[in-house]
Amino acid sequence: MPENRGVPGAEAAAAPSPAEPAPAGPAPRDRAEQEQYIQHLFDSIARHYDLMNMIMSAGALRYWQRVFRRMNGVRPGDHVLDVACGTGELSRIMAEQVGPEGHVWGIDLSPGMIEVGRRKLAAAGLAGRVTLQVGNALDLPFEDNRFDCVATSFALRNMADIRAALREMARVTRPGGRVVCLELSHPPNPLIRYPYQWYFNKVVPWLGRWNERRFRQAGKLSPYRWLPESLRRFPDQEGLAQIFREAGLVDVTYRNLTCGIVCLHIGVKPGA
Ligand SMILES: C[S@@+](CC[C@H](N)C(=O)[O-])C[C@H]1O[C@@H](n2cnc3c(N)ncnc32)[C@H](O)[C@@H]1O
Repeated sequence: MPENRGVPGAEAAAAPSPAEPAPAGPAPRDRAEQEQYIQHLFDSIARHYDLMNMIMSAGALRYWQRVFRRMNGVRPGDHVLDVACGTGELSRIMAEQVGPEGHVWGIDLSPGMIEVGRRKLAAAGLAGRVTLQVGNALDLPFEDNRFDCVATSFALRNMADIRAALREMARVTRPGGRVVCLELSHPPNPLIRYPYQWYFNKVVPWLGRWNERRFRQAGKLSPYRWLPESLRRFPDQEGLAQIFREAGLVDVTYRNLTCGIVCLHIGVKPGA
């Protein structure tokens, strides 16, 4: 039975602060329901997903991605995996890093996101280095010890079972290879945290409304209301580092970016 069903990171998450409002609708309950919800949610916003990210992050996304590129250890010729690749943002970065001798695989639940990603990579002339396919991060269709680096960004929060996802990522990483996660997190400084929570809970759902026209799941949180809710349930920096260690990874480090609004976690698979 999967741990932490339907409530990603609930055990390790900091208790919700009184500054945060209660969720505006019922949260998904079990893995099948959550995955069906998440797939529809991302299919419905795929077309303008990248634009919305740039707007909501006020361009900081590019800085976070530059740090990812610098820290991920990917080298020319590597074989790497982008878990929950969405529109292929990390796939694009890693395709540039692995060069023509290497290869990037990307996997995601949402065919709509993958479709946008394929078009983007083709336009960038990188289609030959990247294979994007529909699939589930909790049940990766790859053999053990296959990849030099397994990375994910802004996706773990959406998964029904974070621990199972990290175990799968560790399983398919080769000994000595890296598991890397770029994800929203919890700013430790209250002077940043409270205004940020206000922005996330109030402004982001308002900004996102125009991109929610295709979302059709009555009674469920709409995409840009799910976003703050998914973060509220997500472990803090140390909590996620502990989940990395429980997945068997060693030398686990993390680095707060933009005052901890985003955090980059890295773990190494032992046994090289
Ligand atoms: C916020 S998007 C991030 C996409 C991309 N990594 C990025 O940085 O833009 C989250 C993605 O996670 C995917 N996802 C969520 N749960 C998943 C799962 N169990 N297996 C595969 N993909 C999943 C969603 O379909 C969505 O495309």
